[in-house]
Amino acid sequence: MAKILHVISSPRGAASNSIKLGNAIIDRLRENDAAAAVTVRDLTNGPFPHLEEAHLNAFFTPVEQHTEDNKAAIRHSNEAIQEIFDADVIVIGAPMYNFTIPSVLKSWIDHIARAGITFRYTASGPEGLVNGKKVYVAVATGGVYSSGDASSYDFVTPYLKAFLAFIGLTDVTFIRAEGFAIGDLQATALDKAIDSISL
Ligand SMILES: Cc1cc2nc3c(=O)[nH]c(=O)nc-3n(C[C@H](O)[C@H](O)[C@H](O)COP(=O)(O)O)c2cc1C
Repeated sequence: MAKILHVISSPRGAASNSIKLGNAIIDRLRENDAAAAVTVRDLTNGPFPHLEEAHLNAFFTPVEQHTEDNKAAIRHSNEAIQEIFDADVIVIGAPMYNFTIPSVLKSWIDHIARAGITFRYTASGPEGLVNGKKVYVAVATGGVYSSGDASSYDFVTPYLKAFLAFIGLTDVTFIRAEGFAIGDLQATALDKAIDSISL
């Protein structure tokens, strides 16, 4: 029985294309593993603010020296990291906002990138410490970025690919639902993306 972590970063709930696509990916995973357990981490309701001094103080203070304030500041980061280590499969919903990921998703990334826990520096360079998991990214965009002139404006997929690899997640499949702002594409964009899911 696989454990699936579904990370949501659209605030649009049932109307969200990235959530619908993420759910379709999970439905497909469950065709092969009906008992798979899903944990949803909705970042639009979540406790991951932009990093403040208190977070950084806690991140860079050795655990055995943590004050009560450090412990409070680092609690949500620790919980988010535990969710990642607990998961076998991670499904990340990533709407494109202004050519990149929503700031709530970036904030979550800032809380899970922890030296000595999710990555470490070695003599031969950085090494990711989150290994052996499959990641699917459900990307939703108004325009089309998979090919054509706009593809160089896609800072969603290259950024997530680089960051996920940095923490050790190299088995990543991007599934794009694109064209929601383009008249003759929007009606079929989601179905086309769902049809393209390949596990
Ligand atoms: C604040 C905001 C910024 C957006 N910026 C872009 C953009 O830069 N490029 C693009 O193609 N679509 C952009 N869109 C369209 C969304 O990517 C598209 O509507 C997508 O379906 C949103 O994901 P969701 O349905 O999961 O909320 C933007 C939408 C919003 C609300």
